Amino acid sequence: MRIGTPLSHSAVRVMLLGCGELGKEVIIALQRLGVEVIGVDRYANAPGMQVAHRSHVLDMTDGMALRALVELERPQLIVPEIEAIATDELLRIEADGLATVIPTARATQLTMNREGIRRLAAEELGLPTSAYRFAESLAELQAAVTEIGFPCLVKPVMSSSGKGQSLLRSPADVVAAWEHALAGSRVNHGRVIVEGFVDFDYEITLLTVRALGVDGQITTQFCAPVGHVQQQGDYVESWQPQLMSPVALERAQAIAGKVTAALGGRGLFGVELFVKGEQVWFSEVSPRPHDTGLVTLMSQRYSEFELHARAILGLPVDVALREPAASAVIYGGMAARAIAFDGVAQALAVPRSDLRLFGKPESFERRRMGVALAAGPDTDLARQRARDAAALVQPVRVEAGHD
Ligand SMILES: Nc1ncnc2c1ncn2[C@@H]1O[C@H](COP(=O)(O)OP(=O)(O)OP(=O)(O)O)[C@@H](O)[C@H]1O
Ligand SMILES: [Mg+2]
Repeated sequence: MRIGTPLSHSAVRVMLLGCGELGKEVIIALQRLGVEVIGVDRYANAPGMQVAHRSHVLDMTDGMALRALVELERPQLIVPEIEAIATDELLRIEADGLATVIPTARATQLTMNREGIRRLAAEELGLPTSAYRFAESLAELQAAVTEIGFPCLVKPVMSSSGKGQSLLRSPADVVAAWEHALAGSRVNHGRVIVEGFVDFDYEITLLTVRALGVDGQITTQFCAPVGHVQQQGDYVESWQPQLMSPVALERAQAIAGKVTAALGGRGLFGVELFVKGEQVWFSEVSPRPHDTGLVTLMSQRYSEFELHARAILGLPVDVALREPAASAVIYGGMAARAIAFDGVAQALAVPRSDLRLFGKPESFERRRMGVALAAGPDTDLARQRARDAAALVQPVRVEAGHD
């Protein structure tokens, strides 16, 4: 792709659907390559909007409004950063040749629904996954849970960040799990997946890039595996590389290669996998940079965000690891607008550390407001440094009218 001048008739225009912390880093990477970027999110002053050329506040689940904005802005590329988008309209936009959806409109639609991606992975591609059933009523859920057995997980088919999920240990947990799923579902579908619990040793995100090679054909490249710890459905710590046996790594790459090939298009994907010894299970995949991959801002020669930017523009990528590193999440710890952060100097005094403060206009108790990064000779020391740096950052309330 030829790159023009932003804000002129020759510009390459990219529209980011979602302007959170991941979108913000993608936008910075695109800006550095001279791309004109239009940010879209459902609230004003979202992190990515603060670094885009211009932005729009829009309900992205409203297909008509999304279509109107695309017709107004005429971006060449549409880059979804979140799942909750009117993907039917993305399919039409792509079919009408209005813009290219990254990686493809079909990929965004399949991955926003646990049923779509699970049936593709397990039934069409034959990839190993946890045992699963779908249910649409309490009675169906009772039957499904009986077939899968305990322990098992119940998740709304349309949800993310652990919302509406329950771990069930006995039949006594079924009713509460059904009610929790209904309350946590993104769309009031009332459809859930029951998954057998995988007793894994560790879980990874395998960042996988589909980019153009020198011959103009799409090549698939794998970053070093990212290990992570999840709490309440949210990642709290990640590191790279996660050591794996050669057989497990080979299986993980084979799974990631197959699922990303089936989704198609260009860009970076986060393939979530469970590992026990040499066994590997596919869990899910994001057709976009992954939150656990924030660590690559420190660990790789090019972060997952830079790799995504290059891949979608048709440019070559380099997935080389630079050195072991880790990330640790900084939560808001309170519900307030316009909070501040103390301890930034102390955090940055931790050896080989760095910070990203996302600039979110409003904090919640469990909202991710920033991330601490750190490098080290090994991931153990990098993790310790990242945790230390994150703990030194203190979110504080600032009353209006004061400094
Ligand atoms: N079948 C399973 N067996 C064991 N653990 C599981 C299973 N499914 C999910 N988990 C655990 O719960 C976490 C969140 O699950 P999952 O990725 O499906 O949810 P999510 O809401 O899509 O989260 P996110 O959007 O943050 O990735 C996983 O990373 C894993 O730690
Ligand atoms: Mg997940």
